[in-house]
Amino acid sequence: MHLRVVVDQPWDVPADVLAVPFVGEPALEGALAEIDRRAGGELSALAAFGDLKAERYASVVAAGGQLRAGRLLAIGAGDAETITRQVILRIGSAIERRLAGRSVKTLAIWLGDLGERIDGGAATVAELLARGVVEGEFEPATIYRADYKKAPPALEELILVAPGADAAALQRAAERGAIIGEGANLARLLDNRAANDVTPEVLADEARAIAERHGLFIDVIEPARAAELGMGMFLAVGTGSDNPPRMIVLRSGDEGAKDAAGRRLAIVGKGVCFDSGGISIKPATQMEEMKMDKTGACTVIAAIATVARLAPGTPLLAIAPAVENMPGPHSARPGDVVKAMNGKTVDIINTDAEGRLILGDAMCYAEKIGATHLVDIATLTGAVARALGDQMTGAFGTPQAWYDAVAAAGERAGERYWQLPMIDEYRPDLDSWYADFTNTGSADGGLVKSALFLREFVTVPWVHLDIAGTAYFRKKTAYAPVGATGVSHATLVELALAGAR
Ligand code: BES
Ligand code: MN
Ligand code: ZN
Repeated sequence: MHLRVVVDQPWDVPADVLAVPFVGEPALEGALAEIDRRAGGELSALAAFGDLKAERYASVVAAGGQLRAGRLLAIGAGDAETITRQVILRIGSAIERRLAGRSVKTLAIWLGDLGERIDGGAATVAELLARGVVEGEFEPATIYRADYKKAPPALEELILVAPGADAAALQRAAERGAIIGEGANLARLLDNRAANDVTPEVLADEARAIAERHGLFIDVIEPARAAELGMGMFLAVGTGSDNPPRMIVLRSGDEGAKDAAGRRLAIVGKGVCFDSGGISIKPATQMEEMKMDKTGACTVIAAIATVARLAPGTPLLAIAPAVENMPGPHSARPGDVVKAMNGKTVDIINTDAEGRLILGDAMCYAEKIGATHLVDIATLTGAVARALGDQMTGAFGTPQAWYDAVAAAGERAGERYWQLPMIDEYRPDLDSWYADFTNTGSADGGLVKSALFLREFVTVPWVHLDIAGTAYFRKKTAYAPVGATGVSHATLVELALAGAR
């Protein structure tokens, strides 16, 4: 998709569709009044009819009349006070998705006064709208069929219309946004693919292709080497499946290099290609969703590729332990005791608490190869989804300054996090008769205990993002389809880019 920023008035821009956001009640004043007038009063007629609503992301399509655009799309930005970066991102996606199944080659979006609603101004609006449109183009219904007719249009050109703006600055921002959107879509494509399609080895192959494309170093650790390295937890999860585990290690920048912020940042993503629960097998209902238990891995693989596109050579590690958690004659049994890479012994009392096992060894390995700062991202607990739903990611971190740095990156990315506490009093609940600790405690406070478990495997500043609620949508919205959301990809990119030279 070609991107262009123009400083003309919206009614002077030729396009198949001109999209205009309006804030609050659909009051047709200023430029919107002129757009309405040129469109033959279509917007005021729709407002009077009750079709043009103040509701956020609600939209109507009208004839373009005397506008240079064939059609006019008006979309609600909602209440002025609650407009955030995420809202602007989603306006971009909602515009694109509203056009699903239509023939649209060129889409123009007028920025209106959205630049006054957020810090960062018009350039940030351009970045978020471009990213939103690119993310809006993603359609999971096309992954396994060629003849799907209701996909959002593949645009030839997106025109951002910002009269009086610094076109060059907006152009750069829009291009950055489009690249971040493409990265999120790469994560979503891998993530939505089925478990019979994406095994740990296939995920490693995809990572190899991505590494090749972007000049990244890649090392894929197979079971024999994982055993030499002492990754007993990682191996225990993978043994139940015929599809053997792979520890995928990607690096940008030189080995041992620190980034401009003095960090060797590692992003570590849970890659359970299918989570049946293992011997502690899950109930059948919604088990099919567990193909998405590899979201964290897909996210870190895509994020390092995006960083390589935006700021090549930025020091960064991405580690994705990939396994399939299956029941079978070779599976780990409840009560099996294994030794982690850091030497601690673990009593696996529930084979369905597998994510923390593979992440513990992956984070230990990250430190072994020099990571000074860690962020792990995982669809780790059903409890986080029950607590926060699908709109807000639960997060833990220590020390607080590192948590705050990650949260600030999330803010820049337009993504929402809610900090949860690590409550030391619950740690004895993980005590085991046979080992240093068990992999789960009693259900109460299970979300906190999952973080307490992970904490046993890190010695450097660390943040844990539990995306089990936000990784995929079960219902479509105006701005996104069912399936993988690409959540946290942009946050990780922003965090890594804080160390770009
Ligand atoms: N992958 C699941 C968590 C999950 C649940 C992700 C629902 C997305 C949607 C994880 O491996 C798991 O099974 N967690 C258990 C932990 C429990 C056994 C301590 C859970 O949340 O029930
Ligand atoms: Mn599980
Ligand atoms: Zn899992």
